[in-house]
Amino acid sequence: MLFKQQALLRQKLFVLGSLAIGSLLYLVARVGSLDRLQPLCPIDGRFGPRAQDEIPLRALQFKRGLLHEFRKGNATKEQIRLHNLVQQLPKAIIIGVRKGGTRALLEMLNLHPAVVKASQEIHFFDNDENYAKGIEWYRKKMPFSYPHQITIEKSPAYFITEEVPERIYKMNSSIKLLIIVREPTTRAISDYTQVLEGKERKNKTYYKFEKLAIDPNTCEVNTKYKAVRTSIYTKHLERWLKYFPIEQFHIVDGDRLITEPLPELQLVEKFLNLPPRISQYNLYFNATRGFYCLRFNIVFNKCLAGSKGRIHPEVDISVITKLRKFFHPFNQKFYQITGRTFNWP
Ligand code: A3P
Repeated sequence: MLFKQQALLRQKLFVLGSLAIGSLLYLVARVGSLDRLQPLCPIDGRFGPRAQDEIPLRALQFKRGLLHEFRKGNATKEQIRLHNLVQQLPKAIIIGVRKGGTRALLEMLNLHPAVVKASQEIHFFDNDENYAKGIEWYRKKMPFSYPHQITIEKSPAYFITEEVPERIYKMNSSIKLLIIVREPTTRAISDYTQVLEGKERKNKTYYKFEKLAIDPNTCEVNTKYKAVRTSIYTKHLERWLKYFPIEQFHIVDGDRLITEPLPELQLVEKFLNLPPRISQYNLYFNATRGFYCLRFNIVFNKCLAGSKGRIHPEVDISVITKLRKFFHPFNQKFYQITGRTFNWP
């Protein structure tokens, strides 16, 4: 009899234990599948709801799930209307610079609960064919978001393309513009490395960096080489300043974003009038990758793709010195205009 009771008790304990473990596993899986948006937040007047507008946490969690579903293309029009989801034109654009760390910056800003990123480079303003499709076409390329969130897109080609400043100005003359820069010679080599990798993938041969960066006839820096021209930041910025005052730009230190991302992100939060929400918890150093990676919550984290953080080819030191000397006066001008000084040689 006693033995029978003990067996029954063990059976009950086993069932209860299984239920508890099952619920726990379900919860962990659920958190992982939810969209990474955090419940929002007493964001300051500009972007956030006022206290009386705050939505109960449970409703928000439901909305997070819904937004996630919608991104997968599963939500109905009715659900979008019901939850006020909208496709908004960007309030801020990362306009460049190519290989400055534009993807890392966008992904890291996307950790902020009030920021929604356009995942793809849209190339609306720099591509005549896309631009001819009109602003509604552009808006429809944006992700769904809640009205108080801000959408950010990045297309690094904007920075160097002649027509872009005027076109963006016509869309929104008070838009905020982010430019992420790296030491110009390193950026140029990174640019070259990307092209080189593309050629190698197609089994093609390519010139050495030295051959492209230095004009063999004059032995001077070859300013016709695009990777060199892109690194003359001040020349491009001056074109933008014909349309936008310098206050509408924020310069991000791309070299520091690699080694110490949080303070750089905090400066951007400030520039965008967002409350500081990105914390050290959201960023962890991954020794295998050699870069900081992103942590959204206890179960969901990610590093950037392997195409970010390539190993650069070795470049002749005399060429590096020549390039650094060449960029020096342009850098000085850039510091002067932007009010941000870097320790570039
Ligand atoms: P390299 O490949 O030269 O190292 P972009 O996104 O504009 O193309 O910039 C790519 C650069 O972002 C990479 O250049 C890399 O150094 C830099 N970067 C900055 N933070 C990074 C991060 N957390 N993970 C990977 N790459 C990062």
